[in-house]
Amino acid sequence: MTRVLHVAGARPNFMKIAPLLQAFGSHPSLTSRLVHTGQHYDETMSRLFFEELEIPRPDVDLGVGSGTHAQQTALVLQRIEPVLETWKPDLVVVVGDVNSTVACALAAAKLGVPVAHVEAGLRSFDRSMPEEINRVVTDALSDLLFVSEEAGVQNLLAEGRPAERIHFVGNVMIDTLLAHRDRAMRSDVLDRLGIVDGSYGVVTLHRPANVDDAGNLREILGPILELSERLPVVFPVHPRTRPRLDAALAGATPGRLVTVDPLGYLEFLRLMVGARIVLTDSGGIQEETTVLGVPCVTIRNNTERPATIALGTNRLAGTTSVGIRTAIAEALAPADAARSLPPLWDGHAAARVATVVAAWGKAR
Ligand code: UD1
Repeated sequence: MTRVLHVAGARPNFMKIAPLLQAFGSHPSLTSRLVHTGQHYDETMSRLFFEELEIPRPDVDLGVGSGTHAQQTALVLQRIEPVLETWKPDLVVVVGDVNSTVACALAAAKLGVPVAHVEAGLRSFDRSMPEEINRVVTDALSDLLFVSEEAGVQNLLAEGRPAERIHFVGNVMIDTLLAHRDRAMRSDVLDRLGIVDGSYGVVTLHRPANVDDAGNLREILGPILELSERLPVVFPVHPRTRPRLDAALAGATPGRLVTVDPLGYLEFLRLMVGARIVLTDSGGIQEETTVLGVPCVTIRNNTERPATIALGTNRLAGTTSVGIRTAIAEALAPADAARSLPPLWDGHAAARVATVVAAWGKAR
């Protein structure tokens, strides 16, 4: 039996661990435990996702909460170490690129516990993004590198990681999307918000570079407010963004901009399915809109997920009003070339991860 410790900490981790826990749970030679670091702790940022995605209750919650990067990372390191020493797992599985990911990978590697990273190899080549540092460090520490898109394989090889450690398995986040799409369609969120399929926009913003500086946020909000004069725009607001957004919108004419608290997984998925356009600075939403075929405008200067642009419906707008305005116009124009799905974004990525881990466990 291979004993695996899974780690989740922040909202974008939860839809990635859900299919992994399921696939590992149904594999005869794998047993799993789950640690929640507590990086995200609000009802709408954490518990709701466990409920909707039927993720088992964590075996332990480290309760680290918010803080500076150093504080948050240090607290996870400090609190995961005794858990690793007590449970002595054969493998720690970390997902994504949040502070909890890198902290648990580091603690495990220092104790000689092998690490598997799911969503390895993605690179924005922008070290001003905290997530890029987390990705590079986590991959450097990982024994098994599970990659979601082709560019990830190339990036890891270019960094000198041995080919036999790299496994191109597809996208576990898309496993969750495909598994829950039908349930999401039964949500009444459109009625609740008074909007009609195909006739509204959706916005999410939470990157520190976009929302922490009042000037940057105003620059980004300009074209979004213009868009909201043409069609309703729903903006589920991340807790980091809320105070800055309220300040930036004070005195502005909000058009039909509807700001709401963070939504659960199913309601947000339903919202994306029916959207005419999605504007975001999230990584995962670039992937989800690609699979849903919904035009996406990414409010960033780079993306670590190039398949969403090469194959999907995503376009990089930059962070200036001019760039965002242009990208919105292009995204609202009639669809151009036919789009295709990135390879292996087929709903079976987690099963591939479980198969590789089981074989790795037997070979040890
Ligand atoms: C984190 C991840 C980011 C991910 C995002 C998704 C890192 C470095 N960043 O950013 O990659 O895209 O999650 O949400 O790990 N807060 C609450 N309630 C919560 C959680 C946070 O109110 O449940 C507030 C706190 O004021 C906190 C702030 O949000 O200080 C930021 O939270 P934090 O976990 O530091 O980073 P995120 O911006 O959420």
